[in-house]
Amino acid sequence: MTTVEVFAPAKINLTLHVTDQRADGYHLLDSLVVFADIGDTILAKASETLSLALDGPQGDQLTAEPDNLVLRAARLLAGNRGAALTLVKRLPVASGIGGGSADAAATLHALSQLWGLAIPESDAIVTLGADVPVCMESVPQRMTGIGDTLAPVPGLPRMDIVLVNPGVSVSTPSVFQNLSNKRNAPMPDPLPHWRGPVDFVDWLQTQRNDLLAPAITLQPVMQDTLQALRQTGAMHVGMSGSGATCFALFPKDGSAQLAAQSMPAPWWRAHGQIL
Ligand code: C5P
Repeated sequence: MTTVEVFAPAKINLTLHVTDQRADGYHLLDSLVVFADIGDTILAKASETLSLALDGPQGDQLTAEPDNLVLRAARLLAGNRGAALTLVKRLPVASGIGGGSADAAATLHALSQLWGLAIPESDAIVTLGADVPVCMESVPQRMTGIGDTLAPVPGLPRMDIVLVNPGVSVSTPSVFQNLSNKRNAPMPDPLPHWRGPVDFVDWLQTQRNDLLAPAITLQPVMQDTLQALRQTGAMHVGMSGSGATCFALFPKDGSAQLAAQSMPAPWWRAHGQIL
C-alpha cells in the first residue's frame, strides 16, 4: 500500500516585529521567516478511519486527541475521509519553531497527494493557526498581517543554523499579553539586497524580535541559552517566535555542528542548514 511521506521543517523567525493589535486581540506582525532541514515527518496511508500514531523522540509530548493540529488539518481537507497518519515528532512542542504548524502544513500536503484533492485556500488554512500558511512553502518569506500575508524573500545567503531549547515551553498568548508596546516599527520596505552572510547578519542585528523581552520575563533561562549560543562565536543569535527555542547562524564551514555539540547536555539542540 502507498505511503506518502512529507517532511515538516522547523520554522524560524529571524526577525519578528509586532506592529499593531487588531480589535479581536490578534497581533499584526512583520517577520522574516526561514526554514531548516531539521524537522518532523508525516506519513500517510489509506485507511477506513482517520487515526494518528505518535512516534519519534518528542512523540510522548503530544496526544492524538481530536484537537491535535494534524487531525484538525486532515478534517479541514476532507471532512470524514479515513487515513492512517503517523507523526514522527523530533521538534520540541510549544517552542516557537512552528512544530505544530509545520505538521499541519505537511499533513495537508500528504493528504492532498493521497486523496488527490486540492490544497485549501489560505483563508481556510489560517484557521488552523496563524503560522500554518507560511509553513505551506518552506522557503524564506516575509510574513505580515497576522501571519496570512506572505511574500517570498529571494537572495538570502546560504547559512547553517543551530537550534537550542532549554527544556521549557512558553505559552504564546502569555508572551503577547506581557508585551507592553504593541505598536513597533516594521522592517524596511522593500528589504535590502544582501551581498553575503556578513552583510546579512549586520542587517539582522539592526532588526528585532519584539517578543524576546516578554518571553525572557516568563522564562529567564532563555538568557542563559542566548549567552551560551553567543559564546560559540555564532554570527548572529536570536529567539524564534515567542520562544523558548533560540537560534544561532553560522557560515557553511562545519562550525554549526561543533557549536551544537558544545551546548549543555540536558538542552534540546539540533544543527542543519537554512533551506
Ligand atoms: O494562531 P495560533 O494558534 O498560532 O496562535 C496562538 C495564540 O497566539 C493566539 O491565540 C493569540 O493569542 C496569539 N497570536 C497573536 N497574534 C498572532 C498570532 C498569534 O496574538 N499574529
